[in-house]
Amino acid sequence: MNRRQFLACSAASILFPTTGWTTAPLRLKAGPVTARILPEDDRPTSMLGFNGSTPGPELRVRQGDRLSVSFENRAGQASTIHWHGIHLDNAMDGVPDLTQAAVRPGETFRYAFDVPHAGTYWYHAHHRSWEQVARGLYGPLIVEERGPPPVDRDITVVLDDWRLERNGALHESFGNRHDFSHAGRMGNVARALFSGATVRRGDRARLRLINAATARMFAVRIDGGTGKVVAHDGMPLAEPSPLRDLLLAPAQRTDVILDAAGPVSFALGTREGLYGLGAIAVEGSNPAPAASPVGPLPAPGIPAPDRSAATRLTLAMQGGAMGGRHCGGDLWAFNHRSGMPDAPWRRFARGETARITLRNDTAFPHGIHLHGHHFHELREDGSLGDYRDTTLVDPRRSRDILCVFDNPGKWLLHCHTLAHQASGMKTWVEVA
Ligand code: C2O
Ligand code: CU
Repeated sequence: MNRRQFLACSAASILFPTTGWTTAPLRLKAGPVTARILPEDDRPTSMLGFNGSTPGPELRVRQGDRLSVSFENRAGQASTIHWHGIHLDNAMDGVPDLTQAAVRPGETFRYAFDVPHAGTYWYHAHHRSWEQVARGLYGPLIVEERGPPPVDRDITVVLDDWRLERNGALHESFGNRHDFSHAGRMGNVARALFSGATVRRGDRARLRLINAATARMFAVRIDGGTGKVVAHDGMPLAEPSPLRDLLLAPAQRTDVILDAAGPVSFALGTREGLYGLGAIAVEGSNPAPAASPVGPLPAPGIPAPDRSAATRLTLAMQGGAMGGRHCGGDLWAFNHRSGMPDAPWRRFARGETARITLRNDTAFPHGIHLHGHHFHELREDGSLGDYRDTTLVDPRRSRDILCVFDNPGKWLLHCHTLAHQASGMKTWVEVA
């Protein structure tokens, strides 16, 4: 099998487990799992997962609820869980050495926090994440609206890729320096994994896309109906926009509401063309398809930021292959510093608004993630764009963001190409 056939091979839909919505304490037990990534006649893959599967179980809670999870670490190496995108209590953020000590093998740590905003989130390991996430330690976290939009199906779609040997084993090239200095660990097999296998013709389906890959920018085409994009990174768009090809940087999410006219298929755009990621099959038809246009999701009630008083800052990304020189001590840097400084890059007074220019002086795209907050992307004309927790900045381009730092604590700011994070592209801020 050559690489191209490998990437192209297409399988029946792969399902992952879901829980009902819950406020009861949950247990997430990390440990070795066997995953079925290649088609049935190929071998399964030994990975890590939660409660016996990768992705781990989809956790569902209601907005405003408290999520309580006891994390039992049987993964054989230290780990933590980060609740990506949730504006949570800093002590529960899951960042080793910044917000907690890594949970050693055999130990248990209890996470408990309130979930203030509805939307599509995810959880993932945050210790040696470039390896642990690639080995499968992650899962979806869905926060349901108190008044959810009427849909017939609500299906989570996890996008991921894996670097596999021909025998189905994960390629043990973790920490490979070429990956670290280039685009990260790209897989040779890519898939969409679903929380539900079927729709009826005529169903209105909410599709919650999550890019769980450690490196791949997922360019995704969805066929099989007409749809609207209703949210990014969990946060509703004020006005839904027509569904076109999507681009999700690692860790980004997009919610689509689609009226299914047939099987709903997902394809990855690559230089060689489109590759099938999988499809949601059609079974029967809906006798009473939704007729009303898709409207916006309930507004999250975020006060408009006061931009007149915004602190102006620049965070320049440096390093990597073809990236020129910088003064950091590792492959990648922010403002000529690699890795975690002892003191925060910046201290913000609680409630302070900052306009930060994210300037990419490198030859690679970077999806920059701020913990514990969302921020507005600013459009070229300076108007407020999408409200996100991870923003994609193309090579040699810059993007301004406007953030209200209103969540007290120590918050990581890093590239979500996890090899870049591991080799220098990270820093932290403190809100007090
Ligand atoms: Cu999704 Cu610092 O992580
Ligand atoms: Cu990066």
